[in-house]
Amino acid sequence: MTLQLKTFLNALVTPVKSKFETAKKAKQAPDFVFNGLTSKDLNYDKSNYPVEGTYNKTTPAWLNEISLVPDDWQWSEYWAENNVLRNAQIEAQQKYMAKNVPGQSYSGSTAEIIQQWYTKGMWNPDPAEGDKRNPPLPIFDPEKIKRLTENWINDDAEFARQRLGGSNPNVIKLAKAAEYNIANWISKASNGSNLSNLQTTLTSAQKNNTLFVCDYTQVVGSAVTQQFVVNKRFLEAPICYFIVDSESKNLKPVAIQIKGTDPTSYIFTPEDSNDKDGDAWLLAKLWVANADAQWWFSGSHLMNCHSIVMLFGIAALNQIISGNLSEDHPMVILAKPFLTQVFSINNAVISAPGSEEKGIYQKDQFCDLVLPTGRVGLYQIINSLYEDYHFDNNAFPTQMSNRCLDSGAIGDVFFPYRDDGKVWWDAITSFVSNIVNATYTSDTDVTNDKGLMAWMNATQAAFNHDNKTRFNTPETKADLMAVFTNLLYTCSAKHTSVNDAMLPGWAFTANGPFVMTAAAPKDAASVSQETVLSSLPNPQTDAGFTIIQNQITFVMAGTAVVDEEETAGMSQESDEVMLKYHPYKDGSPQQQAVKDFWNAIWTGDGSVKARIMENQSVRINSWSGSSPVPYSLSYYYLSAFLSPCVGPEYLNSSTMTSIQI
Ligand SMILES: [Fe+2]
Repeated sequence: MTLQLKTFLNALVTPVKSKFETAKKAKQAPDFVFNGLTSKDLNYDKSNYPVEGTYNKTTPAWLNEISLVPDDWQWSEYWAENNVLRNAQIEAQQKYMAKNVPGQSYSGSTAEIIQQWYTKGMWNPDPAEGDKRNPPLPIFDPEKIKRLTENWINDDAEFARQRLGGSNPNVIKLAKAAEYNIANWISKASNGSNLSNLQTTLTSAQKNNTLFVCDYTQVVGSAVTQQFVVNKRFLEAPICYFIVDSESKNLKPVAIQIKGTDPTSYIFTPEDSNDKDGDAWLLAKLWVANADAQWWFSGSHLMNCHSIVMLFGIAALNQIISGNLSEDHPMVILAKPFLTQVFSINNAVISAPGSEEKGIYQKDQFCDLVLPTGRVGLYQIINSLYEDYHFDNNAFPTQMSNRCLDSGAIGDVFFPYRDDGKVWWDAITSFVSNIVNATYTSDTDVTNDKGLMAWMNATQAAFNHDNKTRFNTPETKADLMAVFTNLLYTCSAKHTSVNDAMLPGWAFTANGPFVMTAAAPKDAASVSQETVLSSLPNPQTDAGFTIIQNQITFVMAGTAVVDEEETAGMSQESDEVMLKYHPYKDGSPQQQAVKDFWNAIWTGDGSVKARIMENQSVRINSWSGSSPVPYSLSYYYLSAFLSPCVGPEYLNSSTMTSIQI
């Protein structure tokens, strides 16, 4: 295998043997480390970057030692077995690509060539050898290959939809006048004098609250401005404006500044007279998608879900082993099914000190070898999101309202993550409230609960270790409900939205190339078909082929099959499995809360299952295009069950399983 992901793939099928029982006797507990990265990882020099130094800014605390985590908090056997199967699919996919991609021929417009590049000979339609399922599952069946490759960001509407129903719905927000001064922005741009129409359009949309923006200048831009971009690689942090078309109720992109960190740089628009064939506009969208992929990779997915969730998990295990928190505590019984297994996958991201195998964030591993940021730029992306992070601000309804996505004109636009996420948020809110009400009578009961306080204080200490307030120990029942609702949602629906969408979102390179292969254009006039094609990984060159293969492999590895009954107990047949995973005493009010939660998910017209199916059906029926319904619209990811419409080759778990990958 020529891939940089070999170590990662090995890690996914090699569970670590737990020494938890002996560690427990020795009171050796899983604990936080604030130096999970070694000096080898943190030091950088001019052999890789234009700058040299030691990276010393804050990133989330990490786990001290994976083998201290008990077996039943690590990957299940079922999971490891399924990853063997996934790896077999990955290998078969790679062989297929290697055999069929070379020698293909491409022709047509720039967009046609790009589509052919990432389609012809690319997708293995056969089952992997040794797939013992009956019948064996194709790796990519022909109908799904069409869905994967026929809707892409060449189309402006699809480009906009992917910001709302793709892998990273966490960037778009209302462009408020206080933060985005349109006249100022346009006046500084090199082509600003030609953009008076654009200025009128944007200013008027801003007044009507129909101007939205995907702004990468802070999060991705912090890596660009500090030159944490690997030598001979390219990274930009664009600003992209959208307006809501009130008639069609669609969002459409209207302006992109690729080099968003340079105010004097060019603003690309769809109607630029210097861009007769639309090549420059297409290239500008590809740069946005590339920046989006960087934000998603280490920010929305691994930092904002995996790392945050592990902080609660480490604190719980640490306090359990120290004897301060009972494993039978009602809040542990509530949260445990969501907190297990994240340790194992995170250990393949940054491996515990002393491990032989290094994680993908470490020196000379996947991120270093493939991504434009390398490891250090990626640490910077994480830091830019974590520096002023607060757990409460990341709660689903807070995000929607802070970014002004829950009302006004955008309220009429299909926004699958918002609309389906809300269904889960409401159900989880009721579940958590019922558990808290069944456990605590008053606010003082909460602060008098030594076990709970030990757990929450340990979590708080980890979040706030650099004296920044990112988490507050709950002091009232309402606080406690808010924290656990947010936690359970982050472990489940939020993670699923960024994880399960990774294959439909990024497997087709043109929807979000992990790597751009040429410098960004300085203006529209200088962009030709050749410029666009040379900016993307070319499947007919060794370097381009390797990038494409790495990207496909990564998103396949991140979407292996998980049984729907794993961990949180999502069986649709009865509440038995869910009760097993939340083993409250028979006849207790907490047990009743679990039964009610199961019913809220599965039974009746108002159930999560029914409401999300209704959302999906309305979205799907709205589609009148000639291509198959785009994933960004059907958006099966938050279904209560594993959707047969997508199939397990595209979807790794139902929404309520814990973070396993
Ligand atoms: Fe994940």
